[in-house]
Amino acid sequence: MRDAQPRSIRLADYRPPMFLIPRTALHFELYEDFTLVHATLGLVRNPASDERGPLRLAGEGLELRELLIDGEAPVASRWRCDAEGLELDDPPEAFELCTTVRIDPRANTALEGLYLSRGMFCTQCEAEGFRRISYFLDRPDVMSVYSVTIDADRRRYPVLLSNGNRTSQRALDDGRHRVVWEDPFPKPSYLFALVAGDLACIEDRFRTRGGRDVALRIYVEEKDLAKGDHAMASLKHAMRWDEERYGREYDLDVFNIVAVDDFNMGAMENKGLNIFNTSCVLACPATTTDAGFQRVEAIVAHEYFHNWSGNRVTCRDWFQLSLKEGFTVFRDAEFSADLGSRDLKRIEDATLLRTAQFAEDAGPLAHPVRPDSYIEINNFYTLTVYEKGAEVVRMLHTLLGEEGFRAGSDLYFERHDGQAVTCDDFIAAMADANDTDLGTFKRWYGQAGTPELTVEDAWDKDSGAYTLTVRQQTPATPGQPGKAPLVIPLALGLLGDAGNLRLTLEGETPDGEQADNTHRVLVLEEPEQSFTFTGLPERPVPALLRGFSAPVRLSYPYRREQLRTLMTRDDDGFVRWDAGQQLMVAALGDVQAARAAGTTPALDPLLAEACAALLDPATPDPAVAAAMLALPGESTLVELAAHAGGADIDAIHDAREWLRAALGEALEDVLVRCVRRHPPAAAYAPVGEQIGPRSLRNTCLGYLATRGDTGLVLARAQLAEADNLTDRLAALRVLAQAGDATERETALEGFYAAWQHEALVVNHWLQLQATLDLPDAVERVTALMEHPAFDLGNPNKVRSLVGAFAGANLVHFHRADGAGYGLLGGVVEALNARNPQIAARLLTPLTKWRTVPVRVEAMRAELSRLAALPALSPDVYEVVSKSLE
Ligand code: PHE
Ligand code: ZN
Repeated sequence: MRDAQPRSIRLADYRPPMFLIPRTALHFELYEDFTLVHATLGLVRNPASDERGPLRLAGEGLELRELLIDGEAPVASRWRCDAEGLELDDPPEAFELCTTVRIDPRANTALEGLYLSRGMFCTQCEAEGFRRISYFLDRPDVMSVYSVTIDADRRRYPVLLSNGNRTSQRALDDGRHRVVWEDPFPKPSYLFALVAGDLACIEDRFRTRGGRDVALRIYVEEKDLAKGDHAMASLKHAMRWDEERYGREYDLDVFNIVAVDDFNMGAMENKGLNIFNTSCVLACPATTTDAGFQRVEAIVAHEYFHNWSGNRVTCRDWFQLSLKEGFTVFRDAEFSADLGSRDLKRIEDATLLRTAQFAEDAGPLAHPVRPDSYIEINNFYTLTVYEKGAEVVRMLHTLLGEEGFRAGSDLYFERHDGQAVTCDDFIAAMADANDTDLGTFKRWYGQAGTPELTVEDAWDKDSGAYTLTVRQQTPATPGQPGKAPLVIPLALGLLGDAGNLRLTLEGETPDGEQADNTHRVLVLEEPEQSFTFTGLPERPVPALLRGFSAPVRLSYPYRREQLRTLMTRDDDGFVRWDAGQQLMVAALGDVQAARAAGTTPALDPLLAEACAALLDPATPDPAVAAAMLALPGESTLVELAAHAGGADIDAIHDAREWLRAALGEALEDVLVRCVRRHPPAAAYAPVGEQIGPRSLRNTCLGYLATRGDTGLVLARAQLAEADNLTDRLAALRVLAQAGDATERETALEGFYAAWQHEALVVNHWLQLQATLDLPDAVERVTALMEHPAFDLGNPNKVRSLVGAFAGANLVHFHRADGAGYGLLGGVVEALNARNPQIAARLLTPLTKWRTVPVRVEAMRAELSRLAALPALSPDVYEVVSKSLE
């Protein structure tokens, strides 16, 4: 909190640190009402720095108790300390700095630094939380070997953990005990972690390929002990996968995971001691959905993969965040694709990107994958840095091929092990290992905005030549008016009547019998390029952007019959799904046009037939069928409409509901038959063979919810009989949305009564209600904030209720009287001082005012009200001020 306007940090101002800290010894004396932190730092001047003058160490909220330089208290005039840190005049070339600070973990509601959560001490240091624990050079390019001593009450805190290996443990006086941890790997302060609590653990072992025997432990509250098995299995899969796919082995004797209830993010990759939000590690059939099980597997893997992509090789500065995050998201996506369904994973990721990341890229907070300035780094853990960053790495993989990419990653790890490096270093390793130049490709890191590809084609019947002309253009974003063309891999195929056509580009000799010449990656790098395929027997339907080969918007004037062809016949799962979605978007356009003209909408028979075909027993993969049957989400439609000039949220909602009901009516019998064909499994398991049919059945149920009793009867039975959360929630949603008030309240109350002691289930219950389409949605959310199940101090609850309402209940969030904005603004105001990170994150839906022309005034008014509040945190200040610009 500061009064002066917070200042921007710029990449261009990066300077190497003046000093390095090869060794750090920390001694924690933990008490509930205060904690003492004794730090002994070995500092040496950095030969790579020519900076002179006083040395500044970062420190926030610390009460300095003792300061010694080489064992002596420095003269008062030679040092000073303020709200942001400690300054030492003319430091010696090499010296030992001892500080003792007192901190108050109990009062730490921001959940950064050392805090208490349900009686357990826990830390979160990324990005800049370590400075709330001790004075330090709290920047990732200062890497240190840590030794950590923890003293605490033995009975209340039997488990004391930190990074690395435990080297000693002994009883102290007064019922206290002491544990020492040593981490041999130099690490930046953001990877430091400490946990103290009364925790139970599940334990397993893993033998690395090189023969190291690793103890694996997952620490949870005693009551949750049964919920750790899935994470443990996921961890072992991830460890094996990283050995096989990347040749990366684990490097310590222990790997610990701790589950904590109050956590700002999903999880954190601290060296040897990952800390997880309970929602991302605990799993069991009664409290976790199918999607939840998959999420746990993916996040456990993600954090584990960071051990190499993030920890062994880390970031030089926070502008390089995507160096570790983009790469690690790419790694976890491939892991999930290998273990589950590749097509589905790609569809999910493309959806996330196209709705939320494209919206970010088109909004006031648009920034490149490698931003060049920020006010608060916590605001830059974004979809752009993570997901678009992962797409950039995926494009490298596409361009270099699996082998070339692997050679690049091997070189990267070998060259930079133990270093703090930049995105340029990553690209250089990829380029060097492949003896290629990626200079132009690097523009992806510096240029914000979603590139737009416009494709036109021409067919010459006489010669059998088919020409695709592709134009690329990236729209202006804040601070970046002009954009250069990018290197874009455009994967495609051409479909003829009998299937995939062989592809021969003009000037090439035809490949005769070569099997796989039906798929091509065109590399775009100019504003406009043409590609002519020769020797084609017929005019093809182009299957463009297979596998979503680049994070771009692509437009080609498909006719509906062509979409239907792609939907059934293309080889690529993403293209098939996307064609179906485009067909649905077209049908929704019909509905909106009819409404606008005051006529009765009619259901596109082509779409009805396509959906019926997906419900046919012959359709091979029920999971893919379910994804293809799902209507494009409202956020996707709003994003599309916004891009086309502005979204009418009520009209979009109305059209979507109309189409859902129309399909429900037209396909009622097939839907019911499909539900019957996929009854619940005898015993629930979160495995592909069950998840697909379950998801198809519940998708059908969603359509049948528009059919009165037909849907309600099925939902009642399902809710009564289900043995798992996926089926229970799907049924509960139908009853709460389509039932009358009595049915709704009875079902919701019954569910709460049964599950009130399972916090993670209650969060689903909050989220479900936050996203109901009911006239009093705003009032319901407001009332739920007073419910005993809600807690403003717990980020999961805030996200489940308020985040879900603002992000996923669009018509009600955008209610004409502005009540939805007032609700969100009120929560942001309440959280501004208490947990600025969460406050700033919650604001996202309000920053999108440009997309909703009829609500601009009301949305800006709420932002302006927030902007005028006294003592805005830098986090909220940055989001509010940039969105009002
Ligand atoms: N580094 C974490 C991850 O992506 C995310 C995180 C960031 C967690 C900041 C906490 C704080 O794996
Ligand atoms: Zn990460």
